[in-house]
Amino acid sequence: MDFIPSPPTITEWSAKARIGGRTVGFVPTMGALHEGHLDLVHRAKALCDHVVCSIFVNPLQFNNAEDLRHYPRQMEQDRALLAEAGCDALFAPEKEAIFAQFTPTTYDLGGLDGFWEGPSRPGHFQGVVNVVERLFHFVRPDHAFFGEKDRQQLTIIRHVGRDQLWPERIVPCPTVRAADGLALSSRNARLSLEERKQATVLHRALLHAATSAFRNSVEETSKAALETLSTVPEVRLDHFGIADVDTLEPLTAWGKRTEAVALVAAFVGPVRLIDNITLRR
Ligand code: PAF
Repeated sequence: MDFIPSPPTITEWSAKARIGGRTVGFVPTMGALHEGHLDLVHRAKALCDHVVCSIFVNPLQFNNAEDLRHYPRQMEQDRALLAEAGCDALFAPEKEAIFAQFTPTTYDLGGLDGFWEGPSRPGHFQGVVNVVERLFHFVRPDHAFFGEKDRQQLTIIRHVGRDQLWPERIVPCPTVRAADGLALSSRNARLSLEERKQATVLHRALLHAATSAFRNSVEETSKAALETLSTVPEVRLDHFGIADVDTLEPLTAWGKRTEAVALVAAFVGPVRLIDNITLRR
């Protein structure tokens, strides 16, 4: 695997990789890699001729300095994991290189940041979209792979991509879970053993919502999930809700839909976790 710390070199690498109509798949990450990230790499390998992964802890998307400071960093381990997964290049730029000659843009997010994660994390999604644009600009991938665990991020990136006519194809990938249902996340590493157990209530609540959905009202379905969450009082709820799969707008009735999504965010110890599940009729 090639290790590429500087932007011009990754652009040259990618141009060479695309000769003869071959394709480049891209997995953008902030490091502290787990099976969820490696699954994205495997999916990229299955669909593309070459795979680039980036590791860049993007300061623009943290609205809490403590969160940024505590974000896990483990470059040597990540590098070994990516090489083993068959990734072809690791792009790991410095902040100065990514943001040279750069002024952040305020993107039209189509109001998609008006709920769920948006109000709790002001500026977060603008920060994500700015860095994704920057990474795409340097890597020039054909396909880019994003996990459904960050459902609102994925929805917003697809929206901006369509709006800005980004040529990259955004590929959504299913959430990878531990055997007990907890969605894999780099933040899980900060949970104590006890908190790790408590955190599994998030997935149990989502499963209850999935069982109740479309049989009971939206209100009853939310109530069932909230009751499950309240069985572990150490888990402090930030939000739970049911939304339209495309617009993520909060729902009060199912209407004629055949699908919806339930989203949850909660603090477990010092760590804020998010998860979601697709609800099907
Ligand atoms: O999902 C993430 O890890 C980040 O938000 C991303 C897409 C790499 C942008 O920094």
